[in-house]
Amino acid sequence: MQTRNLIGGEWVGALSGAEFDVVDPATDEVIARAPDCGAAETARAIEGAAAAQRAWREVTAGERAAALRAFADLMRRDRDRLGALMTREQGKPLAEARGEIDYAASFLEWSGEEAKRLYGETIPASARDKRILVLRQPVGVACAITPWNFPSAMITRKLGPALACGCAMVVKPAEDTPLSAIALAELGLEAGLPPALFSVVTGDAAKIGGAMLAHPLVRALSFTGSTEVGRVLMRGGSERIVRMSLELGGHAPFIVFEDADVDRAVEAAVANKLRNGGQTCICANRFLVHESVREAFVSGLVREMGEIRVGHGVDEASRVGPLINDAAIEKVERHVRDALEKGATLRCGGERVRPGPGLADRFYAPTVLEGVTGEMLVSREETFGPVAPVRTFTDEDEAVSIANDSEYGLAAYFFTRDASRLMRVAEALEFGVVGANDALPSTAQAPFGGVKQSGLGREGGRHGMDEYTEVKYVSWGL
Ligand code: SIN
Repeated sequence: MQTRNLIGGEWVGALSGAEFDVVDPATDEVIARAPDCGAAETARAIEGAAAAQRAWREVTAGERAAALRAFADLMRRDRDRLGALMTREQGKPLAEARGEIDYAASFLEWSGEEAKRLYGETIPASARDKRILVLRQPVGVACAITPWNFPSAMITRKLGPALACGCAMVVKPAEDTPLSAIALAELGLEAGLPPALFSVVTGDAAKIGGAMLAHPLVRALSFTGSTEVGRVLMRGGSERIVRMSLELGGHAPFIVFEDADVDRAVEAAVANKLRNGGQTCICANRFLVHESVREAFVSGLVREMGEIRVGHGVDEASRVGPLINDAAIEKVERHVRDALEKGATLRCGGERVRPGPGLADRFYAPTVLEGVTGEMLVSREETFGPVAPVRTFTDEDEAVSIANDSEYGLAAYFFTRDASRLMRVAEALEFGVVGANDALPSTAQAPFGGVKQSGLGREGGRHGMDEYTEVKYVSWGL
């Protein structure tokens, strides 16, 4: 297994020789050591990327699409290997990890296809002897800082459109999950990408991120992570006016109206809440349930959550793996404790579990809390764990107002059988992604991203291509 970085087309360690441990969150075992790089290695990656990009921008859209398709096919070929690697470094169950590999590959394939449709425009001019042309050109070198919760898909969601648009990309993966990123770099080379076009630099976020923002060749930065870090990056990028795409925190409401198909809502709630053990930016954080269907929904949720198998991700029977680290499980415990102290009722879970000998103390039982109110931490901050807090409402206006009462605006969900309500509520929710009778909206062809403190820009779909293209207006005098 490759653990060095791909920088400027060469497999290298940190210049200092320093490395950091990559730890399996399920067992605390050190599974590898990755290079602890900093500013000098980042600058080298950026300079190599700039040289490679000058040639790549001249490659036809069809050839770029073919390379991205080959890359996606190699990911699918290696689904089991890549999935197993992801489970080891991130903890998610194998089935979910393999699913993420397919999801990740879909961004490469879809963006490559879309490269063929990067159309410009002609605009009627005001003078007979003039023509107005609008060109779309690659921004140049783009950088990406990616999170640990989706170690492959959050890279390809940025890398696919960047390469498709004719850009080069330098990726700094999360310190918790460098191995999936390095494995992608290997497959990119095998797919025939120019060697320096896509670099992976692992190590300290502040040093690498700072070097990315400071380098004059970097034109765009895409980040997925917390709102707090997003603000730091935006401040840093303001010096050089670096174009920013920020996919930040969320606090998704999940509304169940009185006319909803409650069984369908329960099934969707469990799939949504327990995706990646609740460690997903678009996981429901607040279940808002009409008073008249509260007991039906909550008892269904308790029944389904109670049957979920928590365990080591390498065990094919596990549905929920460990939380990523001790701080993550401590946060979940703090949120549950706070809710109980403020009057919520525990309907199931509410404690750590030990699913097997030799496993780390980092597994948390799927939990349902009832009688939740707006003052509780679960109603305001991302819990990022398998906790479903349920609060009730009595009418549509109240539900929408509670849902919108958040600084975040990433994803929201609601369930109803009333078509008029469906459109009304979809329009009223102040969120970038709305799931109407659907709790799994993520897909390569749709624009993903938030409003308010959840970020800027969109990833995926044709809107995702805009982050990596500049619009140039040519005024042509005949
Ligand atoms: C995220 O958690 O940031 C991404 C989730 C998704 O792509 O569905």
